[in-house]
Amino acid sequence: PPAISVKIRGTSKCIGKRIKVQGWVDSKRQQGKNMIFVILRDGSGFLQCLLIGNQCLTPEALALSLESTVSIWGEVGYVKEGQSAPGGLEVVADYWELVGSSPSGGTEAIVNETSKVELQLDQRHLMLRTEPLANTFRLRSGITQCFREHYFAKGYVEVTPPTLVQTQVEGGSTLFKLNYFGQPAYLTQSSQLYLETVIPSLGDVFCISQSYRAEGSHTRRHLSEYTHIEGECPFVTFDELLDSLEDIIVDVAQRVMDSSFGKLLREVNPKFVVPKRPFKRITYADAIKYLREHDIKKDDDTYYEYGEDIPEKPERTMTDQIDSPVMLIRFPVNIKSFYMAKCADNPDETESVDVLLPGVGEVIGGSMRSSKYDELLEGFKREGIDPKPYYWYLDQRKFGTCPHGGYGLGLDRFLTWILGKFHIREVVLYPRLTDRCTP
Ligand code: 4AD
Ligand code: MG
Repeated sequence: PPAISVKIRGTSKCIGKRIKVQGWVDSKRQQGKNMIFVILRDGSGFLQCLLIGNQCLTPEALALSLESTVSIWGEVGYVKEGQSAPGGLEVVADYWELVGSSPSGGTEAIVNETSKVELQLDQRHLMLRTEPLANTFRLRSGITQCFREHYFAKGYVEVTPPTLVQTQVEGGSTLFKLNYFGQPAYLTQSSQLYLETVIPSLGDVFCISQSYRAEGSHTRRHLSEYTHIEGECPFVTFDELLDSLEDIIVDVAQRVMDSSFGKLLREVNPKFVVPKRPFKRITYADAIKYLREHDIKKDDDTYYEYGEDIPEKPERTMTDQIDSPVMLIRFPVNIKSFYMAKCADNPDETESVDVLLPGVGEVIGGSMRSSKYDELLEGFKREGIDPKPYYWYLDQRKFGTCPHGGYGLGLDRFLTWILGKFHIREVVLYPRLTDRCTP
């Protein structure tokens, strides 16, 4: 009889029918001379396939190794009582073909979960075939979808700004410079400035794009290339911006839990609970006090002073002690970027916010933008930036300026948090780290 070609996910709907499945040999067990149990993997699931009789005696069958690819034809049925197989199903092959062979022992002979981290990263393309990593990237896909659904439900428009740029956003020290047909250019640090240019025509906007940072810091939450989810909204107040940040964390987390990915997330991170609103709001000034009161010091045993950046380590210690999301607000002007709006009641502080999540620290950075032409020019001057390449950005303040604000959320950090991972590299397909651009 003719066979229906199916993905393994769909086999439960084909009981009693003849199907064709194709995939990779995930495991194999020989029983006697005349029976080989193969667990086939095709990305959609796992399926037990039984090769019997003469099918076990061909040279291909005798040499069949893990990670070989095969096509198998046969009838789908339930496994016998007392036997266990994925989904309780099996296909008894009436015909099969080898598509691609694999060295004996499969990929496990080269690398597996017990291998050294560096070897696992060198062989990332092989490690990606393992189930824990496959689950991570299934969740990454589902969670990205939840972010989009969050934005679309609120009427945001998605745009795709360029990542080859000639302007900086977050300071010259982390810029990747490149030669763009003879002109100086950079890999973008943030799409914020471009998002600001489309709010007059599109209103609330967002993008999901790669950003690049030539970070010297070797930490478990820094990448050289990361996925940046950025939003920008015209005519919001600082308080409304803060509410929307709380909302994106809580709403996306809830959407994931309620989606078809909720079950997998609970398996991967059983401890995860959707955080409660409202988040604690702490001013930068109070955070400096907090560090002093809790004896969190610099490496040279001195305290952090007002006006200094709070680096990763103390920030993480504080967040972990508080053990719930924190919105750190009102950073001083001198440690923040040229574009940030100043607080109406204190020109030395900015309407800025970092959202800190337990286990990771800063996951979102956002602010109100300075909407006045002169104030912006002052910002460029303060940072020693030539305003000329920013003519298009400055035009936003000439042609109908408005109070507005936005933020950037590091998707990789969000995933590290929600999946309960230790190191950011665990949630990235091919992590780009200070010492790694391979594979
Ligand atoms: O705080 P950052 O630098 O803010 C901006 O880039 C703003 N222009 C965004 C905006 O307002 N549209 O970066 C935003 C977030 C951080 O909170 C962090 O989650 C992530 O981007 N991020 C990184 N993630 C991984 N590796 C790195 N090296 C990162 N640098 C920033
Ligand atoms: Mg930041």
